[in-house]
Amino acid sequence: MIKEKPNLITNELINLLRQLDNDTFLHGMRVGEMLYKFSRYLNLSLHQSNQLQLIGYIHDIGKLYIPKSIISKRGPLTDQEWNIMKIHAFIGFNLLKDILNQKEILNAVRYHHENIDGTGYEGLIGEQVDFYSRLVRIVDSFDALTNDRCYQNKCSIERALKKIQKLSGAVYDKELVNEFTKFIFKNHLLC
Ligand SMILES: [Fe+2]
Repeated sequence: MIKEKPNLITNELINLLRQLDNDTFLHGMRVGEMLYKFSRYLNLSLHQSNQLQLIGYIHDIGKLYIPKSIISKRGPLTDQEWNIMKIHAFIGFNLLKDILNQKEILNAVRYHHENIDGTGYEGLIGEQVDFYSRLVRIVDSFDALTNDRCYQNKCSIERALKKIQKLSGAVYDKELVNEFTKFIFKNHLLC
């Protein structure tokens, strides 16, 4: 399943996610595949593409520790539920830090909800948000928007792109949004 440094414990965690929270598992699989393709489009090295694929698979692994009642809730979360949901990124980092010895991967798991303007989960701002986390932020959002989730119906590829473009430079890295738009046009033949 994983090309980047196969790790039995990581595979076990992914299998556990598949059993306990299939929607999050499937989301991770899609994000991993899209990150792999997008990074190839960006001409990143094969090593980086493989790292990003693995990040996609495991970026939400911390949701294993979030109550199912929150993960699967239909309709909006309360403030308290949101505060619990938000710690999944840090839990994922903590879960993996003794398993994976790759700082770039651990950082992307921890910071995949950071926004360029500092409004993300931990409030990192601008250059503090690393390259991988910026990539994951875009692909993660795109997948969430274009697939049915318990809290929202999916929207079209065009509409999802527009939503992301609208927040370009604020939530998302501007240059990467431009590249992602070209990548989607190329792959989905939008015109
Ligand atoms: Fe997440």
